[in-house]
Order: sequence, then structure tokens, then C-alpha cells
Amino acid sequence: MCGIVGYVGAREARGILLAGLGQLEYRGYDSAGISLLADGRIDSVRAVGNLSHLRAALAEGDGGAVATQARPATIGIAHTRWATHGRVTEENAHPHTDTGDRVHVVVNGIVENFLELRQRLEAAGCVFRSETDAEVIAHLIAGHTGEGEDLTAAVRAAYRELRGHFAFVALCADDPELLVGARKECPLVVGRGDGEQFLASAVPAFLAYTRRVQLVENDEIVIVRPDGVEFMTADGERLERDLIEVDWDAETAEKGGYETFMLKEIHEQADAVAETIADRTARGDGIDLGELGAIDDELLRGVRRIVIVACGSSYHAGLVGRYSIEEWARVPVEMDVASEYRYRNPVVGSGDLVVGISQSGETADTLAAMRLARERGATVLAVANVMGSQATREAHGVLFTRAGLEIGVAATKTFVSQVAAMYLLGLRLAELRGTLAPERLTELVGQLKQLPHQIDALIERAEAQVAAVAEEHWRDQFFLYLGRHVGLPIALEGALKLKEISYIATDAYAAGEMKHGPIALLDERTPVVCVATDSPVLEKVISNVQEVRARGAHVIAIATEGNATVAAHADQVLYVPSNDWMLQPILAVIPLQLLAYHIARRRGLDVDQPRNLAKTVTVE
Ligand code: F6R
Repeated sequence: MCGIVGYVGAREARGILLAGLGQLEYRGYDSAGISLLADGRIDSVRAVGNLSHLRAALAEGDGGAVATQARPATIGIAHTRWATHGRVTEENAHPHTDTGDRVHVVVNGIVENFLELRQRLEAAGCVFRSETDAEVIAHLIAGHTGEGEDLTAAVRAAYRELRGHFAFVALCADDPELLVGARKECPLVVGRGDGEQFLASAVPAFLAYTRRVQLVENDEIVIVRPDGVEFMTADGERLERDLIEVDWDAETAEKGGYETFMLKEIHEQADAVAETIADRTARGDGIDLGELGAIDDELLRGVRRIVIVACGSSYHAGLVGRYSIEEWARVPVEMDVASEYRYRNPVVGSGDLVVGISQSGETADTLAAMRLARERGATVLAVANVMGSQATREAHGVLFTRAGLEIGVAATKTFVSQVAAMYLLGLRLAELRGTLAPERLTELVGQLKQLPHQIDALIERAEAQVAAVAEEHWRDQFFLYLGRHVGLPIALEGALKLKEISYIATDAYAAGEMKHGPIALLDERTPVVCVATDSPVLEKVISNVQEVRARGAHVIAIATEGNATVAAHADQVLYVPSNDWMLQPILAVIPLQLLAYHIARRRGLDVDQPRNLAKTVTVE
């Protein structure tokens, strides 16, 4: 995800900001930029690529606050961007500015209502220079400072007009000693120094200068001056904030205080889903997928068949997509692992939409399957997490997931964001084809928007409970996973997570198939994980659970909160919040990720770098 750094104090800001960006590089980015204020003027330099490109662009500067060594700026903001809205270009890199170049902002996250704001601001004469959603913030703030408000009041006013999931920091040429930040769900932290202060999206950015930290909470504005920091609500009510002394080393800091990247990424899943769906569900009564390259509404409306190709966890996300597209949009969907599809001389061609799912956008088998389909006349859509990756360059259109860089080898936050993207596609197809009643569509969009909050609450609550289950089972040699319908891909994904990070043998089966063979594996020692969330097939799943129990196996069930039946048939139950049954998979996978995680950690294993596996290179 993007990185924010801000500095105000007595020292030269440029070096401090660049060093801060360097500490956030691990988050992944495709472009970077910096704005510095001196002599009543803000200069900005941005560059595509890594920080060496930004340093080179800075070195080429020809005067002004950015390049002048004689009169260094002591206030500035900087940013590393992971593209979501708009391509990877210098214009789209942050900081963004207003038309008069007086207000500069760096922004993380998504502004859901940017389109309507942009139209309004353009009509009022604002000149936009980028394709990003973030730029509206600079124009909004400048609109208010232009009416005589100071930067703090202007940020508060702008904040009240914004919808979405974001954090930003603003700098105004009129005040050389002030940074104002705002947070709506995305992280923002303050580093407290003596006569100097730091603002950043994560602690590592300023850990070299201070360990004294204050957290900006949700829906808060922070006013940062060299000699002090104030917190307030968007309505101007002042807030007290404790100072925290962090004792993290650099490595812990990179992991945001978590013991591993995988755990950090599990905790980032609410953000990943929120960013993936944000503006796309903003309308409330339907889905806006935005630009899908050459794939327009007419094509989607007329599509004859959908074929989904992917590998590993992305394949499991595709399976959830198959169920939801067929259920909602009534389009036939075929699904295959890409390494099989590409070698089976598939029958595919014009009228088919082939969806290649790949978080990295670089997986060779998925790319080959997509190319083959394209050669045979199909339309190809990539569902990818990395802008500029091969899959995004070769497809007719791209639907981006917005999970940010995933460092842990096991897919977690990229998986849930892929599932969310497939829901978006399913609902959009249903909307275009009129296969869902408008009230049902509105209801599903509303329930989709509940997911980030439910994920957050679930992770908070489930960790200790899952750790206790892991404590009981970490020595077991084999686990069977069972599920039906949308529970099946989650069983497959749970089994994959456990085997890849804990090296325990697992099998995952469609629960109805169990009696045709795998039941022979069961004895009283076998843990059997059953995805038994509420759905029209729950009764069937419960019959399968009874068959398992009759063999004395130990049943660990994933059930929906409020369900009283499943507990009577299971030895242990892990509950997930209630939502539409088609949307349960995103919630049901979380206890299974945590179970795999805690078992692997209990076995003393390195979950971020499991043996024999490597993450596909995601950033060139
Ligand atoms: C499992 C995992 C892999 C990937 C697979 C596809 O945790 O990470 O199974 O899902 O290698 O990778 P992408 O999505 O990059 O094509």
C-alpha cells in the first residue's frame, strides 16, 4: 500500500523525508514524490520507479526549495504510490496540488466519491493534472483556504465532504510551520520529537529519529507544528492523546509490530477488501467497475460463457467467483487450473470471456492460458493486484484488486481481495443482464459493504479462540477439510494454507464426495475441518459432519454466529459474522488462515518463507 511521510522542524526536511520513504519501501510502490516548502513557495518532484529515480530527479532540479542547498526547506511531505486509480505515471504520482499550486497533499487509500467531487470542482474552474482520486483533496482544501479559512479549518471542511477509506497529509504555502493530517480508516501516526514532528503511514518512517508515537484515530484531524501536535474531530472538538514509547527494532517496525508479515497481512484484510470495493459500491444500488479497457458494458451484457483460469489460492478465489456469477448473473462459468487449461486444447473463442486471476500478474501458467484464449478469439479480463504486471499488459481489460504488496509467501489479503473482485464482477454482470431484482441487488451491495467491518471484528475476536484450537492440534499429522458449494473453495484454501506453511498433510474434499473414498482416512485421531456456515446446503453439510463423527474423528466447524445447530454436531466451533450466504466465504476463510498460522508458529516454522516456495516477483 502507499506510504506517507511528513516532517516539520528545524532540520533540512528533504533528507529526512527521503530516508522515511526508504523505510517504507517494503510496502511496495511504483512511483514516488516529494514537496518542500521554503520562501512561501512549494516545489514538488515526482518520479516513476523506485526511489533512485526520485533522487535522480531531485538532483536534476534547477533551483527552488527542492534543489536549493543554501536555503533548505524545513517542512515537507513525501509519498510512495501503489497505483489504484490511474496508471503508473509521473502525473499520477503524489504529491498532488490545487490549480494555484498553494496546497499539496499526499494521500493513501480511496476517495469513493471522487468522481462527483471532480465534476463539481472542474465546473468551478479547477484544473486537474492527474487521473487520480486523490487530487480532489488538494482542490477541495484550496477551495476553503481561498475563502479565507486557515489550513486546519480547510482540511476539516474538506474531510467532511469526502467519503471512502483514506489518510492524507496537507501542506499549504501560506503556513511554513504547519502540516495537517486526517484519517478515515487508513493508518496515520505521529512521531514526536523536540522542536520537530513527523507524520507517517507507519512507524518505520521516523524510527531513526524518535520512538515517541501518537496514533491518529479514525475520523480525526491532526495539526502538527514544530513545537506541538493537536488532535481534534472533524467538527473541531479537541481530543487528548497518549504518548506511546515503541521499543521495536527495525524489523519489528516493518511488520507494524506483528511477529510476521503473514500476521500483519491477515490483519490488513479489512483494508484490502475495503479498498477493492470502495468506489465500486459507492452508488449503493449497483456496481461501477470503471474502465475495463476494451471490455465495455455491451460486451459484458452479451457474454455467452465465462471461463476462469488461475493457480493456487487465486484458483480458489475463482471458484467462489464461479458460484457467485452463476447464482447472480446466470452465465455459465467454467473453471480450470491454468496449468491444465493451457495444455488441454480448450474449446474457447469469440463470445467467451476468459478471466485470468493472478495477484502478481506474472504467473507463467496463468499468462499462457490467457494468451491461448486470446489467440482463439476470446475476450480476456485480468484480475490482478499489480499495476503494470504482464497479465495487465496482455489482457483486453483489467479489474484490479487493491490489497497492496503482499510480502508473506502465503496469499491472505490478496485472496480475500480477489474474492471481493469476483463478487463485484458477478453483481455487475447481474445488473447489466437484469438477472437480479433491483431490491436484491441493492441488498447485496449493502451486505458487501459490511464485509470490511465484519472482517475487522472477526479477526479481533477470533485470534485467541483459534490459537487455543491450534494448541490442541499442532502435533497432528493429517487434517481433512470439507465443504459444499461456496464452502468448498474455502475448504480447499484452508487446506492449502495449512500444508504450505506448517508442512502437515491435508486433503480437501467436496463433503458429498467423502463417502466415495476419503472416509477411509478417518479415525478417532483425525481432525476434520468443516465449513458449515449458513447456506441452503447446510443440512447436507451437517449430515456429512455426522458421518465424520460416526468414525470418531474430531470435528472443527466454521459456523455462522447465531446458528445453534452446528455446535451440537462438532467438537469445536469457530464462529464468523452473519452475512448473505454467498458472501460468507470471505469471512469463513479467516479462521482457517489463523488456524494454519498458529499451528505453523507452534511448530516453530517461518511462515513468511515456507520451504520450497517463493513469492512470484511482483515489482520490477
Ligand atoms: C498460496 C499462494 C499461491 C498463489 C499462486 C498464484 O498461498 O500464494 O498458491 O496463489 O502461486 O499466484 P498468483 O496469484 O500471483 O498468480
